[in-house]
Amino acid sequence: MRKNIVAGNWKMNTTFDEAVTLTKELLNLEKQFDKNTEVVLIPPFLYTKTLVDLTQNSKIKIGTQNSANILEGAYTGEVSAKMIASINAQYVIIGHSERRAYYNETNQILNQKLKLVLENNLIPIFCVGEILAEREANKHFEIIKNQLIEGTFNFSETDYKKIVIAYEPVWAIGTGKTASPEQAQEIHTFIRNLIAEKFGVNLANEISILYGGSVKASNAKEIFNNKDVDGGLIGGASLNAKEFTDIINAF
Ligand code: 13P
Repeated sequence: MRKNIVAGNWKMNTTFDEAVTLTKELLNLEKQFDKNTEVVLIPPFLYTKTLVDLTQNSKIKIGTQNSANILEGAYTGEVSAKMIASINAQYVIIGHSERRAYYNETNQILNQKLKLVLENNLIPIFCVGEILAEREANKHFEIIKNQLIEGTFNFSETDYKKIVIAYEPVWAIGTGKTASPEQAQEIHTFIRNLIAEKFGVNLANEISILYGGSVKASNAKEIFNNKDVDGGLIGGASLNAKEFTDIINAF
């Protein structure tokens, strides 16, 4: 059976002291976490190793928000999948809409990143999602299909099984506007069907598909309640330990 996952994407928030405090608060709350949900914290790069060390005796997993599309060498400012693996972080977000929009990351670049993440035995959280204009033009299915095919479909079944997909409608990120449970379920089913067409139903049923975009403790239940929604990628609400715990327990 596929895993339920709740991952907190801290984005470019928190100072070092705030990141440590938030992690310690979550460690204190850990015994309250739903046992069947994998919890992942995704801090800014700089704090990754500290969080890996702080959480080493817990079930909390640590990830990064990005990784380079090249393995190593003279690429000033980049951080590679090999480096991320070397400090025992386990997850990597690939293709967040903020990376696509502000740093011009194309499906081709993201596909190169994904390859390196998989080769380094990390778990990618591959993000797809449409902007508002695309939804209003009824192009969201086509956009998501393209992101998925160009970004992820050239891998073997063995590799594909390790990928987590996140559907994040860009119009719902940080806007307070969530996709309705029906809209989320509709796209999640669409994604799972595309994976089933390419890799078979059994494999598609093993893939965790997370929803992201203004998930809060107050709306998490109705979103997670859909059969193809296997958890959430949480931005703003993951910066508060109590709120994030309530989201973890929303299944
Ligand atoms: P918000 O939860 O702040 O809308 O952000 C969602 C997101 O982008 C998570 O990756």
